[in-house]
Order: sequence, then structure tokens, then C-alpha cells
Amino acid sequence: MTTSRTQQVALGERSYAIHVGPGLLADAGRLLAPLLPQPRVVIVTNPVVAAHWLAPLRQSLSAAGIGSESIVIPDGESFKSWPTLHDVLTRLLEINAERSTTLVALGGGVVGDLGGFAAAIYQRGMPFVQIPTTLLAQVDSSVGGKTAINHSLGKNMVGAFHQPRAVVIDTDCLRTLPQREFAAGLAEVIKTAAVRSDAFFQWLEANLPRLVALDADALVHAVAESCRIKAEIVAADEREAGERALLNFGHTFGHAIETGVGHGEWLHGEAVAAGMIRAALLSERLGLLARDDVERLRALVLRAGLPVDLPRLGTERYLTLMGRDKKVVAGAIRFVLLRKIGDAFVTADVALPDVRAVLEV
Ligand SMILES: NC(=O)c1ccc[n+]([C@@H]2O[C@H](COP(=O)([O-])OP(=O)(O)OC[C@H]3O[C@@H](n4cnc5c(N)ncnc54)[C@H](O)[C@@H]3O)[C@@H](O)[C@H]2O)c1
Ligand SMILES: [Zn+2]
Repeated sequence: MTTSRTQQVALGERSYAIHVGPGLLADAGRLLAPLLPQPRVVIVTNPVVAAHWLAPLRQSLSAAGIGSESIVIPDGESFKSWPTLHDVLTRLLEINAERSTTLVALGGGVVGDLGGFAAAIYQRGMPFVQIPTTLLAQVDSSVGGKTAINHSLGKNMVGAFHQPRAVVIDTDCLRTLPQREFAAGLAEVIKTAAVRSDAFFQWLEANLPRLVALDADALVHAVAESCRIKAEIVAADEREAGERALLNFGHTFGHAIETGVGHGEWLHGEAVAAGMIRAALLSERLGLLARDDVERLRALVLRAGLPVDLPRLGTERYLTLMGRDKKVVAGAIRFVLLRKIGDAFVTADVALPDVRAVLEV
């Protein structure tokens, strides 16, 4: 039997536990009951996730004496928006949610980001719990407390830091996830290993087939290890003043791809995958990273069913797009580069001809 794993995100009085395991939805009531200021929650979810996972969650809550209502928002990134946020706040008011009611986000990153932001601002902030159901949300967006909606002028441009009271990750939820979404989540798993842990990267090299086959033990290890690393980085740098930016490995190029081809054409994880290869090539070109390590990364990304090549948008277009990345600091493009697999750093000190060169290969 696969055992569950629990780890803490150490943030002083805002510390919380991340529980990872198969079938954990059935334990959600037991895990959450001691954390709730009142035995009442409002679940924000979408119709796709609700069809599979809402009833089991409500049952588990009810068995623990926790009452629940649900707010179902439409599925898709385009609904991570002002109008949807407004609708959620309206529903919270209509059902008389209180400041001590807990908002539970059950879904992928869209539900988690929007639900978390609603919780951050409803009556100046209500408790919040993440139950992520995509691989991307389980290994990335549910941990760290970043919440947001999109503005017509930019993605994630309106939001808040609002840490959850707990993150409950049921790896069985991944069994209903479309394969393409699963692969996109793997990109963030590979990214996490690449910036921080050669041991985890080696584990991925050895165990990728088990992961893709949804082997229960492999899923728990990959998700828990990704969360452990992200939690460690977030604990050291909650508001992304420094080290947390390492988690943007592949994202400077990745965001340019997403914007350039139009959001929705490429999934975020797919763009990050191709972006990581460019960042690795840039690291190699600057004499930092060995050719072998670039090849290891490329091989793993390919085996995960993810793209390694850039869509052909033209070098000048990429440079313009990267200049508009919101993580650009004081005019210089910031890159996360690798010295080795598992050893990354952030720099704004890259000459334009070098960036140009890796966009052209
Ligand atoms: N807050 C952060 O730190 C952070 C980090 C990374 C990404 N994000 C955000 O996350 C969002 C992307 O998240 P995502 O990739 O999870 O996308 P998503 O939430 O749109 O989910 C992808 C698709 O999978 C469906 N789905 C979810 N769980 C399912 C399940 N168990 N079975 C079947 N279908 C399921 C969803 O309905 C959706 O159609 C973006 O908006 C991004 O900005 C936030
Ligand atoms: Zn990402």
C-alpha cells in the first residue's frame, strides 16, 4: 500500500501542512476539521472537476461534521477574470459566508488562483484550503500562496499573497486528468528537479515510465518531492525577492512562447519545457553548463512527451516578447541559468548576442 506523506511549509504563524497521498480526498474531512474556525466551508470548483471529485469531497467533509456548499465557475483560463471573481464574491455574500467560513479550492491552477484571491479579499480575508487536482497545481500553483486573476493587459496582473491553511493532494485525482495536461505538469516537476536536486532529477530519469503509467508510489514521490523543494524555497523567500525566482527556470522563454503563439495554443507546461531547453543552451553557451547536462534535460523533456523546440516566431519577435516579461527587473531580462543539473542561479547579466544566438539554433 502506498503511504501518504506530509510536510510543512515553514512560514512562522502562517505555516501549513501539505498532505500528499492516494485517496486523500476521503480523508479531507479528518485532516481539515481541526484547522477550521467553524465547521463550514464553501467549495469553489468547475464543472469538469465537480463531475469527478466534488461528491467524494463533500461526503468526506460531512462525515467529519463539516457542512459544505459549492460555487461552480466555468472551466478555462479565460474565466480567471474580474467577472468570475465578482460572481464568486456575490455568491459568497448571497449564502452569507462569514469571515470564519473557509474557502476550499477544488481544481487546477485556475480554480486555485481565483479561489485563493477571492478568499484573500472577501471581507478582508477568509481562511483558504487548496485541494489541487491537476499535476501542475499539485506540484506548483497550490504551494506558495500566490493568488491572482488575469487583467486584459496581462496574465496574473491582479492578485495577492494569501497562504492556505492546508494543501490536501489526492494523487488519485490525476487518474481523470487528460494526458496532455499531465505531461504539462511534468514540465514543472522536471523544472523543480533541474534547479534544485540532481538526485530527484536522476530519480525522474529512472522512473519516468512509472510516472506516466500513474504508478501510485511514483506519483506520491514525484509530487511530494516537488512540494518539498518548492516549500523549502518559498519558506526562504515568501515574496519572491530572490531565491524563489529560481522556480522561473524556463519561464522567460516560456512566457514569450505563450504570448507569441497566443495563450491556449501551447499549454503553460509545454512552453516551459521548450523554454528550459533554451535556458540550458544559453547556460552552455556561456560556458556554465556541460553539453551532457543539456542532453540529459533534453532527453527527459522528450520522454515526458513535451516539446523541445521553439515555435518559429522570429528572433526579433522573441526579444520583444521577453522584454515584456513581468519578471523583468529594471530593464534587463532576467534569466535562470544552470551550472549543473540541480544548481541554478538568477542573472540579468546576459549579453543580447548570446540570447539571440540560442534563439536562432
Ligand atoms: N499561483 C501560482 O503560484 C501558480 C503557479 C503556476 C501556475 N499558476 C496558474 O495555474 C493556471 C494553470 O493551472 P492548470 O494547468 O492546473 O490549468 P487548469 O486549472 O485550467 O486545469 C487544466 C484543465 O484540467 C481540468 N481538470 C482539472 N483537474 C482535473 C481532473 N482531476 N480530472 C480531469 N480534468 C481536470 C480543468 O477543468 C481544465 O480544463 C494558470 O492560470 C497559471 O497562471 C499559478
Ligand atoms: Zn510555471
